[in-house]
Amino acid sequence: MEETEEIDFEEILSELEILEEGDIKLHCFPLKKAKEKGTALKKSMPVFYNPVMIMNRDITLIAYKAFQQKFYPHQDHTFSITDSMAASGIRTLRLYKFLNEPFEIIANDLNPLALKLIKQNLELNGIQNALGENQFKKIILHNLEANFLCASNINSRNYQAIVDVDPFGTPNIFIEPALRSLGIPGLLGITATDTPVLFGIRRDACFRKYNIRPLRSTFLKEVGLRILLYFTAIRAHPHMDYIDPFLSFSSDHYIRVFVRINKGQIGVDQNYSNFGYMLWCPACDWRDTGNLDFRKISLKCPHCNAKINYGGPLWIGKLHNDEFLNECEEILETTEQKIIPTKKKLLKILKMMKEENDLPPGYYDLHKICDRETIPIARTSTIMEKIQEKGYKVSRTHIEPHGIKSNIDIVQLKEILSILSKNIPLN
Ligand SMILES: C[S@@+](CC[C@H](N)C(=O)[O-])C[C@H]1O[C@@H](n2cnc3c(N)ncnc32)[C@H](O)[C@@H]1O
Ligand SMILES: [Zn+2]
Repeated sequence: MEETEEIDFEEILSELEILEEGDIKLHCFPLKKAKEKGTALKKSMPVFYNPVMIMNRDITLIAYKAFQQKFYPHQDHTFSITDSMAASGIRTLRLYKFLNEPFEIIANDLNPLALKLIKQNLELNGIQNALGENQFKKIILHNLEANFLCASNINSRNYQAIVDVDPFGTPNIFIEPALRSLGIPGLLGITATDTPVLFGIRRDACFRKYNIRPLRSTFLKEVGLRILLYFTAIRAHPHMDYIDPFLSFSSDHYIRVFVRINKGQIGVDQNYSNFGYMLWCPACDWRDTGNLDFRKISLKCPHCNAKINYGGPLWIGKLHNDEFLNECEEILETTEQKIIPTKKKLLKILKMMKEENDLPPGYYDLHKICDRETIPIARTSTIMEKIQEKGYKVSRTHIEPHGIKSNIDIVQLKEILSILSKNIPLN
């Protein structure tokens, strides 16, 4: 932060360029210039804006409106959202245009320059500063540390319907204050961009940051989501709060979970039945889940006898809430693409989420299996048909383009892949 304090704000603000995202105009620091500096965007931009995160924002808009319509359909109490790391204000602005009235958004960022930019962006979009320096109609600005802001909301009983956590890297330190500042019903939207940590590529860092053993496996992206969900749940439990994962999204460079937070001992106890370990055999790709009682877990693969690896504790329950996905789908279908630019892609993703939700943890990466078996790969749709013919459930997964989810075991899946591979003409 010291860096920005020494900066001449006016000179920096004069460099801004204007771009559009959805139905919003945005002043931002020239992306090209930031990229030319050769460092990560976040380091080279005085206030961060990443166009690649558009789908993160699109899905956020849909999820928050779905939550509003389901849990705050009446206008008798204010629907308040905290955008705790607002940067350029793009998320706040897009929500402002998209949500049903009445609502109130707190847009906050620790970087003082971000506040200046947010103000410019509100004005650019015709939102007037009518009520005071940091108070706009339906939007209040703060320049606070996110955890401090949440604590101050708790202190003043200003409980929020939704808190958005969108940091650089790990969200680990922001989760507990954010969930505590939620009212009931409350929703937490959390982004994590520290995917190498959550996916087990930086294994030691996962122990350090989450106190959880990751699992670098053929389904590591799903393990990342499950670690984040478990981590959120155990932050909630000391407050007798529990989690209900509403939508868990994995994209190229980040993961994002939308988690309903609710109160009560019964819910906390139920969360425990969704905690466990993921077990995986590196030799044959067999996988299973085990519950928290480690004495019952055998560390030998039931198929090939090799030593299995494991990750956890983590969330082994459902990744999404079916009803919530339906609500999101309805909203998305009736929203113009101009407002949600990734609409088409998101509709496909929601469809896959609905299908994958009933199937056991751990997707199969068909490419990886066939590569390892050194056999050509059949079309995914053909493989899925064969799995169904054998009486198993199967779906694609939004997490991995070459992935499927199924309750078939690895031995039978390999048999199917091997039989089908013999019918593929060689080029
Ligand atoms: C990834 S950016 C947020 C992007 C923004 N939500 C969007 O959709 O474009 C992270 C932001 O968090 C801010 N930040 C970092 N640490 C913070 C903290 N402890 N409290 C509040 N803001 C913080 C940074 O200044 C930066 O603007
Ligand atoms: Zn094995």
